[in-house]
Amino acid sequence: LSAVADGICGLDVDKEGCQWEQQTSKLLITGGIVVNADRQQQADVYIEDGLIRLVAQNIKVSDDVRIIDATGKFVMPGGIDPHTHMEMPFMGTQTSDDFFTGQAAALAGGTTMHIDFALPIDGDIAAGYESYVKKAEKSCMDYSFHMAVTTWNDNVAKDMENLVKEKGINSFKFFLAYKGSLMVTDEQFLQGLRKCKELGALAQVHAENGDAVAEGQARIFAQGITGPEGHALSRPSLLEGEATGRAIKLAQFVNTPLYVVHVMSTDALDEISRARAAGVRVVGEPVASGLALNDSVLWDPDFMTASKYVMSPPIRPAGHGEALQAALANGVLQLVGTDHCAFNSKQKAAGKSDFRLIPNGVNGIEERMHIVWDLMVNSGRVSVMDYVRITSTACAQIFNIYPQKGAILPGSDADIIIMNPKGNTRISAETHHSTIDTNIYEGWSMKGNIETTISQGKVVWDKGHLNVERGVGRYIPLPPFGPLFDGLDKLDSAQLKAFRAPVQRAVE
Ligand code: URP
Ligand code: ZN
Ligand code: ZN
Ligand code: ZN
Repeated sequence: LSAVADGICGLDVDKEGCQWEQQTSKLLITGGIVVNADRQQQADVYIEDGLIRLVAQNIKVSDDVRIIDATGKFVMPGGIDPHTHMEMPFMGTQTSDDFFTGQAAALAGGTTMHIDFALPIDGDIAAGYESYVKKAEKSCMDYSFHMAVTTWNDNVAKDMENLVKEKGINSFKFFLAYKGSLMVTDEQFLQGLRKCKELGALAQVHAENGDAVAEGQARIFAQGITGPEGHALSRPSLLEGEATGRAIKLAQFVNTPLYVVHVMSTDALDEISRARAAGVRVVGEPVASGLALNDSVLWDPDFMTASKYVMSPPIRPAGHGEALQAALANGVLQLVGTDHCAFNSKQKAAGKSDFRLIPNGVNGIEERMHIVWDLMVNSGRVSVMDYVRITSTACAQIFNIYPQKGAILPGSDADIIIMNPKGNTRISAETHHSTIDTNIYEGWSMKGNIETTISQGKVVWDKGHLNVERGVGRYIPLPPFGPLFDGLDKLDSAQLKAFRAPVQRAVE
């Protein structure tokens, strides 16, 4: 475990007793290959007071600058995880990682920013937002929020407007699943889509048919299937495909962009692919678990092993993940999240005799950057530039904070990772930094290691040692009307013109 576990953090000596170089406000990363989403070059990177100041060859600096030699390594923007759940009250419990432990884990794995889903309190999104502001005070890295909308009324509409105009929220998630708790009806979803369009906020959707899932769960349980495999059997991929297609068509009807979170299946992928080919503005986000794993794990005879993989939509049979990887490589899907929603084995045990009670969620915030490197770069599926795009830049662009984040450019925040392609990484619950006692990638070994993470211009992770500080994480407001809204008004008028003129009929 890390410095975090002992509560020793932000000190010059960490948990293992290692002396940390005094943090300086000036850093120079020399000799590495600097990779942005559109270009890579051999260059030095000069950092001062948390910002990147210069990217150029052979930068000369004074003695008070700490030099980090990155020869033979890739210098890339820190990862941005668009999909996490810290301290989330869910399914009768609360996710195990809080904003500090989850972010410490993130930094140890090369992720320097995340966007967490704030949940309403009894449908009240303003109260929900405020509760997340409090929870996030302990942050050790930069973060933003999406807001979930779980009901519809005038207050929700008014509060959405306030959150967008005053509080830096530019995305709202609608759940078409979790009947009886988070799920909205099509009518509520449609109202939400119209409000999102008016505010320039991105509508996000959890796409599974919640009515069918509830029916499927009751039927499978009644057949005597009580274990984690019942989770997969009760909510097959066609229910994800149905809801994805429906959500896309409703967003198309409103002419507002849509972001499909945790795309897990080819059924959903086919809907996204077809819509994008027709010019519909739909973004698809696969998550690391969906890319890397298949559902055979849910049939493991050991409940503790199988239950750790229970998430929704479920991890799908072999073949889906490979198709998602290909879609990420060819641009049909744009960015990778994790849906980091960590529950320990004691929490998972709540569903020991009924799979419907297993808290849904898996770990990933610490592992995503390495898993994606292994699946996508080591395999030859994408270039290192594309790796930067799908782990960082696309997220910054979609949520309208590029190039403050997602780039190594003068003026960008100094959130940077140094990846040694010759290094080795092995993932295990024994060594990870999340608070949970299991890891869905247990034993995963790969070539490539993120040796150094720089957050806000400070070295926070260096060759296996973590040095993070509670409370220094900043809330990054997300401005509305991001690039996905560019020119949308022109499409509105094109759509209007396409309607045929109403007929004037004489009244008798
Ligand atoms: O299983 C999951 N995905 N848990 C978190 C909630 C959600 O739907 O994103
Ligand atoms: Zn979801
Ligand atoms: Zn989620
Ligand atoms: Zn140490």
